[in-house]
Amino acid sequence: MAETDTITEEQAAAEMARIAAEMARADIAYYQNDAPYLTDAEYDALKLRNQQLEELFPHLIRDDSPSKKVGAKVRDDFAKVELKVPMLSLANIFSYEEIDSFVAGIRRFLGTDEDIAFMAEPKIDGLSFNARYEKGVFVQGSTRGDGATGEDITENLRTIKSLPQKIEGKVPDILEIRGEVYMSKTDFFALNEKNLREGKKLFANPRNAAAGSLRQLDASITRERKLSLFAYTWGELSEIPWQSQSEFFDLLKRWGFPTNPNNRFCPDTECLKQSYTDLLAIRADLPYDIDGIVYKVNSRALQERLGYLTRTPRWATAHKFPAERAITRINNIRIQVGRTGALTPVADLEPVNVGGVIVSHATLHNEDEIKRKDIRIGDSVIVQRAGDVIPQVVEVLKEKRRPDSVEFKFPEICPECGAHAIREEDEAVRRCTGGLTCPAQAIERLKHFVSREAFDIEGLGSKIIEQFYNEGILRSPVDIFTLEERNGSPVRGDDLFAALVQNGLHLERRDGWGKKSVENLFNAIRERTTISLPRFIYALGIRQVGTATARLIAKNYGSFGIFMQDMVNGETQKLLEIDGIGESMANDIVEFFKEEHNKNTVRLLLEKVKVEDFIDTTDYNTPLAGKTVVFTGTLEKMTRAEAKAKALGNGAKVAGSVSKNTDYVIEGADAGSKAKKARELEIPILTEDEFLSLTGQ
Ligand code: IVH
Repeated sequence: MAETDTITEEQAAAEMARIAAEMARADIAYYQNDAPYLTDAEYDALKLRNQQLEELFPHLIRDDSPSKKVGAKVRDDFAKVELKVPMLSLANIFSYEEIDSFVAGIRRFLGTDEDIAFMAEPKIDGLSFNARYEKGVFVQGSTRGDGATGEDITENLRTIKSLPQKIEGKVPDILEIRGEVYMSKTDFFALNEKNLREGKKLFANPRNAAAGSLRQLDASITRERKLSLFAYTWGELSEIPWQSQSEFFDLLKRWGFPTNPNNRFCPDTECLKQSYTDLLAIRADLPYDIDGIVYKVNSRALQERLGYLTRTPRWATAHKFPAERAITRINNIRIQVGRTGALTPVADLEPVNVGGVIVSHATLHNEDEIKRKDIRIGDSVIVQRAGDVIPQVVEVLKEKRRPDSVEFKFPEICPECGAHAIREEDEAVRRCTGGLTCPAQAIERLKHFVSREAFDIEGLGSKIIEQFYNEGILRSPVDIFTLEERNGSPVRGDDLFAALVQNGLHLERRDGWGKKSVENLFNAIRERTTISLPRFIYALGIRQVGTATARLIAKNYGSFGIFMQDMVNGETQKLLEIDGIGESMANDIVEFFKEEHNKNTVRLLLEKVKVEDFIDTTDYNTPLAGKTVVFTGTLEKMTRAEAKAKALGNGAKVAGSVSKNTDYVIEGADAGSKAKKARELEIPILTEDEFLSLTGQ
């Protein structure tokens, strides 16, 4: 190796080429062949040498330089990946009875009494991924994100040795494989021990450790962490060379993907129950965390017939394991004030390990719950945690109650703002009446407004919202969109006087901020000045309106203007007709729009942001789109439920009776009065096959 300080440009170029080739070879050996031939130290030495040369001769930096690949911070942030086929979640069940009703529901939908075959698969507690292959070559990796848009983690996934970089043999041109990235229990404990020694942050559980390791901008950090994965489903495909979930697993194995050895084929319901018991028995001994078992209808044809609800398939469900429990003591009870003013009592606990996670707080839900369970400060209690939910106090161990335990007096005044906290009749919750004058509520609303499923504004984390609120920089969501103009424009030239008198926030002068981070924040805000309708509705933080309800409203109203007008006029007819929105929810929505300050905030917001009309994903480009259809008689190829789902998916409306507004009547066997009426009104009558061909089948 030539000495760095005397090296010529020519020598440097040659050496950089050599290093690039060498490290590319080492990468293949490491990532693809599982046979590294360089030690970590040798690898790092090459990397360092390349870096030195690049500093000396920046114009010689190669396109294929190792500094641009794994280990290099090439991106400011994760790029977004549009998922062609959304990544959905699963409905949960918790008991054997629910297995029976899950299977019964499927049989009813399909109109059969026969046994349905399933796959029963451990539910890995990790982070789901999508790996895209084009002509057998791994080209892109993504997280699930919000299900429709994920984060680009291509380079991070590449560092996981067990993910094939290239698939041999016959594969679909476009093949997206999905599964779960996880960290084994052993690797998790080792990582935490190392972090403890180095004074770094500890992870609460293997799942968090896996997520923290995978979602790293610098993929060399991912590489250092030991991650593993299991493949279990698919996304976009150019063709589908398998007929069932079990055949899919066979192919996955042939292609070199890790699949869970405890996946089991189940010919009937009894076997699902047995699988649950068996898995629960070996749960603690598995080298990785699982939080339940997933049952999937095996046949792909049946999966397709069963289809999807809003966010979950009808053909699969997750049977969750019971929560894990531990005994500890309540050190204190305090009150948290939420976004909607609800006062929630929280117990500060003596920290305790519950199934591998250190728990130091638990929710006590509300006033009645404390009374009902007779929970006192100083009590010994059983706490439990299940999945992502906040730990809960299950019961008090009365026999261990100490004489100095203290009863908790629920406050009637908001501890955050001093306003009255009122409990309406029939309500379990006591609420602060301070509205937006209560700092806790205002701050929580702002946090909600910028959160991931709402405006998703990166750079406005919880801490910053709190600081900005307390300093009066942000008081209402509208203020977010005036931040940039309030920040003060840069003073041109060296006009010292102008610089002195110009006022403005000058966020770039704050501790921990710089020009770049302020610019990034403003860019992030500007990007959000156009927003989808469901996100906007959700962001408003209306009581009871979560993401699913926001979507329903968006789908049924199409535009914010129409929705708001109806609400302001107290016009709830259309709202109540939406399947999934009940009276109490409708009330909360109308109440929200009754409040003058809410209306004002929304109006001011609409001056700053453009809310897109909702584009429905239903296929309206079909002969049935916009038509009203009525089914009558016994259908032979599908059940009513299935036929109805098909019609809706094709943009049709399904009515229960025939009128002059009916476009088609679909007639099955033994049709009665409806068919007669259709003939009288001269409405076109279709056979089942004719209907199917209109749906493109
Ligand atoms: S199938 C439409 N199979 O559980 C089917 N998911 O609550 C979608 N998960 O987001 C998923 N193990 O992250 C499936 N064997 C398995 C799984 C599994 C873990 C996770 C996955 C998913 C979540 C659903």
